Amino acid sequence: MNKRLKLLAIFAVIFLFANGPYYVAVADHGYGKEKSWHEKLFDRDDDDDDEKHHRKRYLAPVSNAAYKEECGACHFVYQPELLPSASWERILDSLEDHFGDAVELDPDASKTILDYLSANAAEHSSAKRAVKIMRSLRATVPLRITEIPYIRRKHHEVTPDVLKRESIGSLSNCSACHTTAEDGIYEDDYVVIPK
Ligand code: HEC
Ligand code: HEC
Repeated sequence: MNKRLKLLAIFAVIFLFANGPYYVAVADHGYGKEKSWHEKLFDRDDDDDDEKHHRKRYLAPVSNAAYKEECGACHFVYQPELLPSASWERILDSLEDHFGDAVELDPDASKTILDYLSANAAEHSSAKRAVKIMRSLRATVPLRITEIPYIRRKHHEVTPDVLKRESIGSLSNCSACHTTAEDGIYEDDYVVIPK
């Protein structure tokens, strides 16, 4: 090999190695904007990434009886990992005007539920979706899961007239379309949009 070719080969190797950490840095901050070409190339929706980081694949199914009973009376019981604890606090602190409804809860139940939701909130989870939710929020504290930029982005193809269907009602009704929502599984393979 002549000298110039050798030098070129060395540069090529350095370039490849130097790009590894660069890619990781970009990937960590890359959500919330369009993916760039190198993210598209390397980011195959992160399933391989999960194994590398020992992330949990799915959200844990709801396991608290009081939460299921009190909060499941009107809608799907959202997994605690879908919101940060600061959001759960805001929600529990404003139950007298809960999205237009008044929710009554005795102080014991309220404490039990908030303790459960906070201890299992998104910021304590290593599940892929929870990690993406925390990244996407950038320290904001939403009152709704459906306000989270990551969640909004994932549903941008669902049109308002689909949501208005009697079988759905609103985007808040996760289990209408995610057939495995109760199990904490939101993978697109299990989405069926009802007529
Ligand atoms: C009396 C009925 C009722 C009860 C009981 C109730 N909710 Fe709700 N909740 C609602 C309504 C109505 C909405 C708005 C749904 C919509 O926009 O389609 C809502 C929305 C929510 C959302 C936001 C969903 C989204 O759009 O991302 C969360 C989170 C939530 N409730 C948590 C709770 C918790 C926690 C409890 C128990 C302390 C609870 N709810 C009990 C009626 C209720
Ligand atoms: C009207 C039907 C519908 C409702 C209601 C709905 N989703 Fe979805 N969801 C979808 C569709 C469609 C996709 C996109 C699937 C795809 O990428 O092809 C999706 C994607 C997702 C994804 C990303 C999955 C992936 O594989 O990347 C998550 C997480 C998610 N939804 C969570 C929720 C949560 C939480 C709720 C309730 C607050 C909800 N969805 C309500 C239809 C729905």
